Amino acid sequence: MNSRLKAGEKMIHYLGTPILETDRLVLRKVELSDAQSVFDHWLCDDRVMDNLIKGAHKSVSETIERVKEIVSQYDSEEFCYWGIELKTSGELIGAIDLFQFDSLTENCEVGYSIGYYWGNKGYGTEALRAVIDFAFRHMNIHKISAAHNIDNPASGKIMRKNGMEQEGTIKHMIRNAKNHYKDCAVYGLLQEDYFKVMK
Ligand SMILES: CC(C)(COP(=O)(O)OP(=O)(O)OC[C@H]1O[C@@H](n2cnc3c(N)ncnc32)[C@H](O)[C@@H]1OP(=O)(O)O)[C@@H](O)C(=O)NCCC(=O)NCCS
Repeated sequence: MNSRLKAGEKMIHYLGTPILETDRLVLRKVELSDAQSVFDHWLCDDRVMDNLIKGAHKSVSETIERVKEIVSQYDSEEFCYWGIELKTSGELIGAIDLFQFDSLTENCEVGYSIGYYWGNKGYGTEALRAVIDFAFRHMNIHKISAAHNIDNPASGKIMRKNGMEQEGTIKHMIRNAKNHYKDCAVYGLLQEDYFKVMK
């Protein structure tokens, strides 16, 4: 137990990666058999991956290794990584995760990707809403943060649509796989503020 907490004070309640369901999506664990879809639908695509620190994969074998790494971590209750599946077609269209859990603050970060073909249909907003609600309501996270490159406004849009507020901009916060420094907008949402609007 965190020695700075008194008995009864809140702690992160880790629950692993349970299935989460929204109107149009099922958020579920990624499986080894998903590797080809993960590669084809977003990890091979510069239009998606240029917005992240690690660039696009050049071959499906890289993705198979990445998916193996993900799958091997599901044994840990502290691992929260969901594939985003469309209910209508069963296609895996993206991924979303909670990471960087800090035991002193009870804070964490969220990250996500949606395949280019499925962009601007509200799926990113819907998946982020489900994960934020799960993190605050069931895991007892104190604060969720995220950052996006300022040349990637869609990411900021889905954060704002889910109540996250921009707290600042950090110059050259990341250097991406193409060796470009990027200024990033940092966002956050406190559990107490979330519950003021979402009972
Ligand atoms: C960011 C991302 C997850 C958004 O997913 P999505 O499913 O397209 O998101 P939604 O459809 O729910 O919402 C996107 C919003 O951004 C808006 N948007 C899209 N492009 C935009 C642009 N260039 N400028 C301003 N707004 C933009 C859309 O209009 C939409 O807002 P609206 O619903 O009010 O019209 C997706 O684009 C993605 O995976 N990008 C690459 C990876 C990435 O950026 N990950 C996050 C790193 S921080």
